[in-house]
Amino acid sequence: MRDEQQSERGTSRETGPRKVFVAPSVLSADFGSLADAVRLVERSGGDFVHLDVMDGCFVPQITFGQKAVTDLRPVSSLPFDTHLMICRPELAIDEFCDAGANHITVHWEAATHMHRILTSIRQKGCRPGIAIIPSTPAEAIIEVLPLVDIVLVMTVNPGFGGQELIPRCLRKVETLDRMRRAGGYQFLIEVDGGINRTTLQSALNAGADIIVAGSAFFSAPDHSEEVAFLRGKW
Ligand code: DX5
Ligand code: ZN
Repeated sequence: MRDEQQSERGTSRETGPRKVFVAPSVLSADFGSLADAVRLVERSGGDFVHLDVMDGCFVPQITFGQKAVTDLRPVSSLPFDTHLMICRPELAIDEFCDAGANHITVHWEAATHMHRILTSIRQKGCRPGIAIIPSTPAEAIIEVLPLVDIVLVMTVNPGFGGQELIPRCLRKVETLDRMRRAGGYQFLIEVDGGINRTTLQSALNAGADIIVAGSAFFSAPDHSEEVAFLRGKW
C-alpha cells in the first residue's frame, strides 16, 4: 500500500503524519442506481469505493458479484476495495481481479488454504486483504500477515449495514497495530461496521488506517463534509 500512501500526501508511516483513507460502502446506497453511488463517492473525495460482495452463504444477504464490478469499473477511477463475504472465495478471485477490483479482501473464516489464496490474489495483480469477524482473535491471522496489504477488522457481525459498532473489536485493532510494528509490516488496518462521528475517534486511536462508512456516508447531509470528517480533518 505504500505507493497509495505516498502518492496522495507525500507522506508515509515512517516519514510523516499517518494518512487516513475513507472508503464509503455502497451497501447503503440505492442498488437501483449503483453507478450514481460510485460517482458520488468519487465526487465527495472518498479514497476507495468499498464493495461488499455477499453470497447468501457466508452471510445471509446476497448483494452483487463480478458482473457488477465489471459494469461499475468505467464509472470511477478510484480503487475498488472489494470485501468478499463469500464462501470459497478462491473460486471467484480471478474473475473479481479481471472485473477490475483493486483490493480483494477475503475472510479468514471462509476458506482453508489462506496462504495459497492470498498469494494468488497478489499474483493476479490485486492487493490482498484478510478480514476477521468479531469472534475471531487477531492472533489467528499471524501467519498470513506477511502476505497482506490490508487487514480488515469487522467491527460488527458481517452481513448488514447500519449496525452498532462492537467496542471490544477495537482492541484487535490495537493488537494488530502492535503486531505490525513488531513484524515490520506495512499492511493497513481497515475498520468496517458502525463507524460514524461518534465511534470514529476510538477507531483512529486504536490504529485504524482505512475507515469504511456505509450508513454514515450515505445518510450524511453533505457527503464531502462527511468524508473530510471521517478522515479526521475537523
Ligand atoms: C457489513 C459490511 C460493511 C457495511 C458497513 O457486513 O461489510 O461494509 O456496509 O455499513 P455501516 O457503515 O452502515 O455499518
Ligand atoms: Zn465491508
